[in-house]
Amino acid sequence: MSEMKNVAHSMVETYHIIKPIDLNSANRLYGGTLMGWIDEVAVLVARKHAQMSVVTGSVTNLKFLHGAYLRDTIVLNGKATFVGNTSMEVKVETSVEHINGKRELINIAYFTMVGLDENDKPAKLPGLLLETEEDREEWEHARQRRELSRKMN
Ligand SMILES: CC(C)(COP(=O)(O)OP(=O)(O)OC[C@H]1O[C@@H](n2cnc3c(N)ncnc32)[C@H](O)[C@@H]1OP(=O)(O)O)[C@@H](O)C(=O)NCCC(=O)NCCS
Repeated sequence: MSEMKNVAHSMVETYHIIKPIDLNSANRLYGGTLMGWIDEVAVLVARKHAQMSVVTGSVTNLKFLHGAYLRDTIVLNGKATFVGNTSMEVKVETSVEHINGKRELINIAYFTMVGLDENDKPAKLPGLLLETEEDREEWEHARQRRELSRKMN
């Protein structure tokens, strides 16, 4: 296994401008499009941390808090919150960024990503170095989500 990586190592930020093709029949950002963007960020974070191929194992939790509309600027921020043996949790926050730079949170999602070796078998991931109080809190909440999800499945 390669050396431990800190949270900053794999943080990802991506931007989108909402176009007519991204809207649903209620003229809001289509949820499926946003979920695709979120999944892509989760994959990018997991690849940077794992430095191997990854797949989405599950969406542990995903909440739509507010809508977004034509021409809005959407920013997605993803980071690693927990690493198990071959799987890890990635948190993705989506916001609308207004012209004055202020951001309004519209979605929070937690994905479980699994690292794969060259034979497409789950492979051991580098550990996650927790450096801040926030890192430790995120880890503990992720650990609780993982426990709950295991009980429910
Ligand atoms: C995800 C996948 C690789 C897991 O394979 P598997 O043989 O069940 O692997 P294991 O039972 O050894 O589990 C591997 C790890 O994944 C976790 N895991 C597996 N399925 C999971 C699920 N549905 N939700 C959350 N975690 C999951 C396990 O807890 C384990 O974590 P750990 O090693 O950190 O303890 C396999 O189910 C798969 O290929 N699924 C399809 C993935 C896919 O195509 N995604 C969409 C496109 S990217």
